[in-house]
Amino acid sequence: MTTISKSTKTVVAFAGVSAILGALLLTLPMAPSASDALAQSKSSKAQKAKPAALPQISDDVDDPAVWGKLYPLQYELYLKTKEMQPTKYGGSIPTPHTPTAADPRTITSQSKSDADAGLRTMWAGYAFAADFREERGHAYMLEDQKYTKRQVVVQQPGACMNCHASTYLANKKMGDGDIIKGFEKINAMPYSEAVKLVNHPVACIDCHDAKTMALRVTRPAFIEGIRAYKASQGIKDYDVNKQATYEEKRAYVCGQCHVEYYFKGAEKRLVFPWSKGLKIEQITAYYDEIGFRDWTHKDTGAPALKAQHPEFEMWSQGLHARAGVTCADCHMPKVQYKGANVSDHWVRSPLLNLKNACLDCHKKHDAKITEKELKDRVEQIQDRHWKLREDAMSALVGLIGDLKSAKDAGKSDADLKTARYLQRRAQFYLDFVEAENSTGFHAPQEAARILGESLNYARQGQIALRDASFKPSVAIVDIPPPPAPAAAPATR
Ligand code: HEC
Ligand code: HEC
Ligand code: HEC
Ligand code: HEC
Ligand code: HEC
Repeated sequence: MTTISKSTKTVVAFAGVSAILGALLLTLPMAPSASDALAQSKSSKAQKAKPAALPQISDDVDDPAVWGKLYPLQYELYLKTKEMQPTKYGGSIPTPHTPTAADPRTITSQSKSDADAGLRTMWAGYAFAADFREERGHAYMLEDQKYTKRQVVVQQPGACMNCHASTYLANKKMGDGDIIKGFEKINAMPYSEAVKLVNHPVACIDCHDAKTMALRVTRPAFIEGIRAYKASQGIKDYDVNKQATYEEKRAYVCGQCHVEYYFKGAEKRLVFPWSKGLKIEQITAYYDEIGFRDWTHKDTGAPALKAQHPEFEMWSQGLHARAGVTCADCHMPKVQYKGANVSDHWVRSPLLNLKNACLDCHKKHDAKITEKELKDRVEQIQDRHWKLREDAMSALVGLIGDLKSAKDAGKSDADLKTARYLQRRAQFYLDFVEAENSTGFHAPQEAARILGESLNYARQGQIALRDASFKPSVAIVDIPPPPAPAAAPATR
């Protein structure tokens, strides 16, 4: 296939200035200070006559409203992440909630755990069985985390906060200027204490350098995770902010949060399990090697794992990644907004924004292609994916039922070991694509392959319960019993 050329690159520092220019030309209701800022960055004469009302953006200001004085268009679009609208499988549905003292929200998104009995069976004994909802826009990340029932059923650690708030300044302050030290301190705090250190959902400062507006990675767990991954590829001491290309950064800023993770040890360090690679086999091998389990399945005693939103890992296995198309190309495409050409900071489902997110690029290759055709192609991938997901889910629920019966009938741990390990695997594989929020789109064939493996593990587990001599297709790994409660790793 001929390569479709990507949206024109803009030198980031320039882009900031042009955004302001666009805004000025339109005489938007803007703070006069923004024009001062423009003058300041453009001419040295203007710099001498330093204006009094210049917005103070610096590496110590995290309030997006202050940054918004200089970059009003990006700020306005960023605020739109409050809006909720469903697509066939994504987006979100505004769901009324009666406010209580414990949870003052009046609107949440729809529950997924209530709607799907299979999920509750799969997560029996774990916090996710209590509350799991469709994710929604960035504006909600902090409140949705504060008020989920998963905070009520277990005491969560400060490490949770890494991906649900603007944490750059908190890390910097707690670490006396060293974000890694601050990260370590905050991870280990109880969530209820840590949350007092932050004020905003993800903000400009988390993705941008205040001086140049260049993209940057501020999350310690990503800095460490990508270093471990690059080392597995033979690249030593990788420094993401120095070595990543412009294109890579357009995915890495999102990979700071949209990834699989766990909390390591009693210090609850947030770790991305990538030191063997980003594929599910490599991540499973990582967890097996360290003998990690998230919890012990209530009905079967299996050493279970919970997968979390591995969009970055899944995207990396797809054709778009191969062609250099990044998260920002589809979720933050260039748009005409109030007469200016800006990156759409209204991060959302591309299906709500097909023209900018898909059509503009695909049209370069196929002049006749339409929005409808692209939407149909997405939904066709998703429908096929969902059918296979349902089949994998019934196989897993079948295995869990059989294992529970065998356990209740008095079978020994030794008898159940093979089937329990196969449950761990079938479940993690299914959950990996379930938690990946594109319903297969980011890497359709990889998602189908993983679901096929999941189904195979679940059915092999059922055979193993019936035939003690059965040899499964994977080696059975011993997962040690969980540490005593005091030293137990945090849940997630
Ligand atoms: C080629 C375009 C494309 C690229 C590149 C891409 N995505 Fe997506 N993404 C989609 C589509 C299409 C969906 C499905 C949306 C839906 O079902 O409404 C989606 C869904 C999502 C969702 C769920 C959205 C919702 O409304 O439920 C998240 C989160 C997400 N992507 C994050 C990412 C991240 C992070 C990256 C990069 C690591 C990425 N995407 C790369 C096209 C893309
Ligand atoms: C999750 C990461 C993220 C956050 C948060 C974020 N941005 Fe951006 N921003 C991007 C990306 C990605 C681009 C595209 C950069 C590129 O490729 O040139 C961008 C581009 C920009 C640009 C360059 C002009 C343009 O529109 O392409 C400006 C200015 C900007 N952002 C301002 C802001 C402001 C102001 C905020 C806070 C209200 C903010 N950004 C929050 C990721 C982010
Ligand atoms: C600081 C962590 C963080 C970063 C950085 C981040 N996200 Fe998110 N994102 C979240 C969280 C948390 C949610 C869910 C919020 C909720 O449900 O309350 C979310 C939700 C989303 C959604 C769902 C929106 C909807 O309306 O359903 C999409 C799409 C998305 N993010 C894409 C991206 C892309 C693309 C990037 C990079 C440009 C990015 N995110 C960067 C944490 C992050
Ligand atoms: C910046 C350019 C660009 C953008 C944006 C983009 N694509 Fe693509 N897309 C490509 C390229 C290039 C390929 C072909 C990759 C190859 O064959 O190597 C491709 C392939 C595809 C394919 C076939 C491969 C597969 O994974 O099934 C589909 C379907 C597709 N794109 C849909 C979309 C949709 C829907 C969107 C918006 C959410 C989108 N694309 C956004 C460039 C883009
Ligand atoms: C590595 C980053 C990361 C960490 C750490 C993290 N989250 Fe999230 N969280 C996300 C992203 C990304 C989303 C949106 C995608 C999704 O829901 O799958 C999200 C969504 C959510 C949601 C909304 C959807 C739902 O599941 O109901 C809640 C609530 C939530 N997280 C709570 C927590 C809690 C509690 C912790 C600590 C145990 C935590 N998060 C730790 C990245 C993270």
